[in-house]
Amino acid sequence: MPLRVAILISGRGSNMTALAKYAAQDDVPAEIAVVLADQPAEGLAAAEKLGLPTAAILRSDYATAADHEAAIIEALDQAKADVVFLAGYMRLLSARFCHDYEGRLFNIHPSLLPRHKGLDTHAKALAAGDEAHGCSVHMVSPEMDDGLVLAQRQVRITPDDTEESLAAKVLKQEHLLYPALLGALASGLLVIKDGVPEMQIGPLPGQINGQEAPMNWPI
Ligand code: GRF
Repeated sequence: MPLRVAILISGRGSNMTALAKYAAQDDVPAEIAVVLADQPAEGLAAAEKLGLPTAAILRSDYATAADHEAAIIEALDQAKADVVFLAGYMRLLSARFCHDYEGRLFNIHPSLLPRHKGLDTHAKALAAGDEAHGCSVHMVSPEMDDGLVLAQRQVRITPDDTEESLAAKVLKQEHLLYPALLGALASGLLVIKDGVPEMQIGPLPGQINGQEAPMNWPI
């Protein structure tokens, strides 16, 4: 049975697209069960274009954050999602949600965590004079950008880098890293038992966005 993946977005959805394209490859045992957005996100149109099931569950349609989250959970249940990938989802999830989805809930963050949690990570990396920057995939805990890091990809900061150039470099790596996490979960190279990851070293299924590397997990 392919791994059923739900993706939660709030914005343009480029990571969602990278995940969906990867999951669509014949040798990747995963399928996108649903793409959910909490606001009228640009990424919903991209998901529809890819033929994915989508739903806009708008925060503005619910009186409280708890009601909104309950609607999200119902949609995840309906889609029979095995795992949930947050991909630019700009809303904190409750402790209850994180607990119920322990080991099945993941996020991508544009920094080398634990450095630069929160927003504006590229500006923070430049202001700190960092030589390296990058992106992280991690398990999700109730505290923002705080769950256990599973894998990272690095970029070098060069003297000519601006916030924009750095964002573009990191995004390119995000589009490799998040599919790699999906491939590791779908193929069983990464198993999370009782919230504890067990990683095996091995080749990932499929190329990632037409690239031969990275083909091995952990990357
Ligand atoms: C990415 O940089 C991701 O790491 C962060 O939000 C951004 C979302 O971009 N969490 P996109 O919507 O996937 O294009």
